[in-house]
Amino acid sequence: MDPHMTEWLNLAIRWVHMIVGIAWIGASFYFVWLENNLNRVNPKTGLSGDLWAIHGGGIYHLEKYKLAPPSMPENLHWFKWEAYFTWITGVLLLGVVYYLNADIYLVAPGSGLSATASVALGVGSLAAGWIIYSLLCDSALGKKPMLLGIILFFGLVAAAYGLSQVFSGRGAYIHVGAIIGTIMVGNVFFVIMPAQRGLVKAIEENREPDPVLPAKGLLRSRHNNYLTLPVLFIMISNHFPSTYGSEYNWLILAGLAVFSILVRHYFNTRHGSQKFAWTVPVAALGMIALAFVTSPYASRMGESSVPAASAPAAEAKAESTTAQAETGSAAAAQPASSGVSFAQVNEVIQERCSVCHSAQPTHAAFSTAPAGVILDTPEEIKVNAPRIVAQSVQTKVMPLGNLTQMTDDERKLIGTWVEQGAHL
Ligand code: HEC
Repeated sequence: MDPHMTEWLNLAIRWVHMIVGIAWIGASFYFVWLENNLNRVNPKTGLSGDLWAIHGGGIYHLEKYKLAPPSMPENLHWFKWEAYFTWITGVLLLGVVYYLNADIYLVAPGSGLSATASVALGVGSLAAGWIIYSLLCDSALGKKPMLLGIILFFGLVAAAYGLSQVFSGRGAYIHVGAIIGTIMVGNVFFVIMPAQRGLVKAIEENREPDPVLPAKGLLRSRHNNYLTLPVLFIMISNHFPSTYGSEYNWLILAGLAVFSILVRHYFNTRHGSQKFAWTVPVAALGMIALAFVTSPYASRMGESSVPAASAPAAEAKAESTTAQAETGSAAAAQPASSGVSFAQVNEVIQERCSVCHSAQPTHAAFSTAPAGVILDTPEEIKVNAPRIVAQSVQTKVMPLGNLTQMTDDERKLIGTWVEQGAHL
């Protein structure tokens, strides 16, 4: 597909995805808050509590019924389309970003997976995630929510590990997010909505409502509550190459998920007691610890930053004209200890990055430089030096899918050039 049209399709779908996602999660946060803040002292008959609130210049009085009002209202508002549309737009976005260009965004460099196989695996992981989750919830484990929660957590970590072996870091992350999103929407569609319909129908027919479905719905909606924060992180994780770009990306994701679940637990329980107030500082300390553990300085300790001569760049260059090859190997032949020259760095960047990061990219998937990063001139390279280091030295997320086969020596070369002051 034309890259310009893909970009606008991406824009439109992503925008809607965000809007409906906010509506869904916003309503869900609001109802959890409402439930936790209900005034349950001396409720009126038939009520379990009420709440007064002021918002947007108006005063509201909300009442929650123990079961239902004596007669059902004409208009009962249901919250479901927000969830459904979040999933639909999410899957479309997955298709536009990751499946249309699976070879560059999804397949892990060197995994040997074909684009078609990676898409099949991606789609399959969503279906498998839902089926396994749902079977576990309906099994005897459904009666042991704590044990079930722990098993589900480790199941998702296992999925993150498995996917990170065959998908790019970002591809693995987004699929874990999509598995979670599918579970959450599946819960709404297959369990929570039918439970609510059953409840309303029973009330209308003056029957005792069947307690089984609502109990299932409650368990599933608890899961949705705790899964919200991890999935929100995954949605923004693309901005953080030190997470998805790490060799231990699946473990970092597991850590972040634990911290967010702890904080969520505190917010779920704080109205009743402050017993879990410790989770907030623990999560904050955990984040600080993760920042240190994932730091490139931590992992590089003891390793020399001075690279060997950049032979691969010289080799690659030799395929072009002889005159260029001569200057290329001359630049590469300079001993690294005397300092890395800009010529060496420029050669690597033009070889490995400029198919995409140019004012006129030659790669078929891009009509403009991705992320607006243009690396044509020496000045553009110098200005972008810190970002280049973050993306292709400290992590290996660039070149995307390592399509241009950048070598580790070339990465070190750029790192050394920047450490030496990035002189032109
Ligand atoms: C196959 C195409 C391709 C190649 C080759 C490539 N990039 Fe990228 N680059 C991208 C895409 C696509 C993005 C935007 C990623 C996103 O959507 O988050 C990007 C983003 C970036 C960014 C911006 C990241 C940010 O958000 O700050 C930098 C910096 C970057 N690339 C550097 C490099 C360097 C350095 C090289 C060469 C070593 C390189 N890229 C090679 C496709 C490529």
